[in-house]
Amino acid sequence: MSIAPITMTLNSMISTWNRTFGHDEDNMTKRIGILYFSPTNTTKKICRAVASGMGANDLQTLDMTFPDTRAEIIANPNTVTANIDHLIVGAPVHSGKLPLQAMECLSAIGGNGKECSAIVVYGNRDYGIALYRMVEILSKNGFGVTAVGAFIGQHTYSDIVPVAMGRPDESDIEKARKLGASSLIATEYLSLEDIPIQIDKISRSDKYSAIKPAYIAKLCVQCGTCAKNCPIALLSPDTGMYLDQAGKNQCIGCMACVNNCLKKARVVKANLIVKVVMNNLLRQASRERKEPLTIVG
Ligand SMILES: Cc1cc2nc3c(=O)[nH]c(=O)nc-3n(C[C@H](O)[C@H](O)[C@H](O)COP(=O)(O)O)c2cc1C
Ligand code: SF4
Ligand code: SF4
Repeated sequence: MSIAPITMTLNSMISTWNRTFGHDEDNMTKRIGILYFSPTNTTKKICRAVASGMGANDLQTLDMTFPDTRAEIIANPNTVTANIDHLIVGAPVHSGKLPLQAMECLSAIGGNGKECSAIVVYGNRDYGIALYRMVEILSKNGFGVTAVGAFIGQHTYSDIVPVAMGRPDESDIEKARKLGASSLIATEYLSLEDIPIQIDKISRSDKYSAIKPAYIAKLCVQCGTCAKNCPIALLSPDTGMYLDQAGKNQCIGCMACVNNCLKKARVVKANLIVKVVMNNLLRQASRERKEPLTIVG
């Protein structure tokens, strides 16, 4: 995972973006931007595939997984769309909803009449109200939503119950590319009535349920990689431990730290009760393959 966006200012990121995608008024090339929250990279893969389907092969992005980038965006809400024609927005589904950090960032962005595609990625259980909420926020902020997709990524808690292993796979990526191509030639904007929801008690509740990773001190080499990749900046760059108890309470259980620890010093660990709960929750999802949902205006 690149950490470049943390150190770049939003303006320099956007100027890189413009150089990358270019803008040619004569042949109507659209300038495409990608904005995603993606702790374990499945959402990022889908957003890149949608961009590739639009003919935007270079992969410059605004990565709102990182707290510094989110702060820059919130401080400069109109600059995100100032020099693009179409924004691809992506976020994972957490407890049937959008992660709060992604919602806060998206709520700040001014659409200024630009087009966008809205993408959520979920772990084969359900996408709850996440896609609906994303379209609601983007439309309210002045975007015209030309296409939406709910794609499947390997479930974050697959170390406890394996679900959607290896996804998105080539078939998912191809569908994402096709969605990108269709999104550019959509004839109308989607409205909230077009967006399906999968309501259950998890998505209806305001609560987010998260499994917090365990830390194995004797395996840790204090490399700081987990801290750099934590979307909430909860970990000490010197020790790989939570900075404090408040930090542990705020952990969203996204497993970015686990995925990035080469020493397996941060791991998913579940006691018997958690295993039973997760087995119940994910039993069906572990048995059937769901296919991506795509809708174009
Ligand atoms: C706290 C948390 C809650 C989750 N809730 C759901 C859910 O309600 N439904 C589902 O299908 N997947 C759920 N997932 C799985 C993720 O949506 C899925 O693994 C996704 O691909 C992760 O995206 P990322 O790789 O971009 O971080 C959850 C994951 C986490 C960490
Ligand atoms: S990435 Fe792993 S080894 Fe490195 S500091 Fe974090 S826990 Fe320790
Ligand atoms: S500490 Fe929690 S929020 Fe931070 S990367 Fe690890 S699981 Fe995600």
